Amino acid sequence: MPTTHDSRYLAFSCTRHDTDISAFGRLALAAALCVMFTWFPALAMAGQSPAPATTTISTAAAPSTALCASCHGEHGAGSDVLGTPRLAGMNPEYLAHALSMFKDGTRASVIMQPVAQRLSPDDMHALATYFSAQHAPLAQAQHVPSADLISAGKRLAESGGAHDVPACFSCHGSSGQGNGARFPAIAGQPMTFSIARMREFQARAKAAPPKPGSMTEVASRMDDAQIEASAAFFSVTMP
Ligand code: HEC
Ligand code: HEC
Repeated sequence: MPTTHDSRYLAFSCTRHDTDISAFGRLALAAALCVMFTWFPALAMAGQSPAPATTTISTAAAPSTALCASCHGEHGAGSDVLGTPRLAGMNPEYLAHALSMFKDGTRASVIMQPVAQRLSPDDMHALATYFSAQHAPLAQAQHVPSADLISAGKRLAESGGAHDVPACFSCHGSSGQGNGARFPAIAGQPMTFSIARMREFQARAKAAPPKPGSMTEVASRMDDAQIEASAAFFSVTMP
């Protein structure tokens, strides 16, 4: 079971950016998970939540946005260290649908599935509405990408590239800001999240032939350099 010590570690780790990323990210996520399972008391002790330390919330209560913020950043900016997506300003139907997919297991995530399982459809709707209305600065990058990488990503976003990879903007909106409930905003997403997500689409494409015109199909055409460049470009581009 999590202890106060775990939650202190989270507070400590969330403010450090000089440690080995992958090991560090895993540890920080593990600590965040511990927090998640105890909900707010541990969070409040860690100083991560605006809720007073005396707050007790039963497991039946709707989760507060402070829990989400512990991983997704204040106002939902996302976190490059934790590999969590930006939620701020995203289409509310897209967000609510993502939560329901985590809940029913059609979108796999060891982290988000247990979170979503506690949410009713009303909770999902309320949380999605809240985050879609937030304005947040870009998440802090662990390593600022090079100008060359960013411009390669910009070219891919605008015009597509090798292996018949289509322009990202053709589906995700003219500046990656998203288009309706189906095409999420990809501008503003932390680089670690975008890379992980594109790799997940690629893995899915290997498991079963992707539907034409789906993101799984787009990702299956992309090489490592294209994934890195596009993720870099979107991580420095405000949606
Ligand atoms: C312990 C850390 C953690 C907590 C707490 C957490 N999340 Fe997440 N969330 C993640 C991670 C990691 C992902 C990326 C999952 C993936 O794509 O595999 C994610 C993904 C999501 C997505 C998908 C967004 C997209 O663009 O694809 C939504 C929506 C989301 N979370 C909402 C929430 C909400 C609402 C809460 C609070 C009830 C919450 N999360 C709490 C870690 C967390
Ligand atoms: C043919 C249309 C199409 C094109 C072109 C396209 N995408 Fe997508 N993309 C989608 C759809 C649809 C989704 C949502 C998939 C889902 O939720 O399962 C998506 C999801 C994503 C996600 C996950 C976002 C999140 O919040 O979970 C990333 C990252 C992404 N796309 C990056 C890119 C990049 C980079 C390019 C350009 C190289 C690109 N996409 C081009 C259709 C497209």
